[in-house]
Amino acid sequence: MIFAANFKTNHTRTSTKEYILKLENLVKNSSDEFYIFPPTSALQSSFGKVIIGTQNAYPTKNGAFTGEIGLEQLEEFSIKTILIGHSERRTILGESQEFIAQKFDFFKNNGFKIIYCIGEPLEVRESGESKVIEFLAEQFNGIDINYENLIIAYEPIWAIGTGVSATNIQIASTHKAVKQICNQPLLYGGSVNSSNIKEVLSTANVDGVLVGSASLEVENFHTLFN
Ligand code: 13P
Repeated sequence: MIFAANFKTNHTRTSTKEYILKLENLVKNSSDEFYIFPPTSALQSSFGKVIIGTQNAYPTKNGAFTGEIGLEQLEEFSIKTILIGHSERRTILGESQEFIAQKFDFFKNNGFKIIYCIGEPLEVRESGESKVIEFLAEQFNGIDINYENLIIAYEPIWAIGTGVSATNIQIASTHKAVKQICNQPLLYGGSVNSSNIKEVLSTANVDGVLVGSASLEVENFHTLFN
């Protein structure tokens, strides 16, 4: 199974270091895969089993992109893993599908492992499963779904940070459809916590989870894979 923690705009450089040290200790005998996505200021090189990735980067080696980081800054820490397409970047930061596809291509061409996020808003979910699949299929426009270093994360927007996870019936049917579009490892994300983790992980076509709030305390994250 794959366990990925997206810290979003939480944690500092100091607290991230402490977190990763503790996590390394907790996962050393595990056969699962672990990824941590700290904020940019807390990026550091991976030194053990936990793979450290970036929540974002601009598709450039370097240049005039105020406020962004590029390949050169990631290379300093040997970071080779990136989250692309997260709904918070699509909606709050206004990233278009075209720009996301450009970013995908750039990091693919540089051999990155890409965790590519897709997910529908509530109004689409409320208009029925076939509309959901149509919506998700469009989020693959311009994306090389056969890229060998790709993991998909299905994160319904209405389930993110709300405490309302998708039901296992919703996850099962959506994951089945997503796997038919793109046959890659597939994570579920959206209010995953210690109460629903067993059910989520036992759902067909779930290869792991992408966790926000419940990953922020290392002890709490540990309960998800313990
Ligand atoms: P929560 O686990 O806080 O709902 O966030 C999920 C998420 O957006 C992970 O990328």
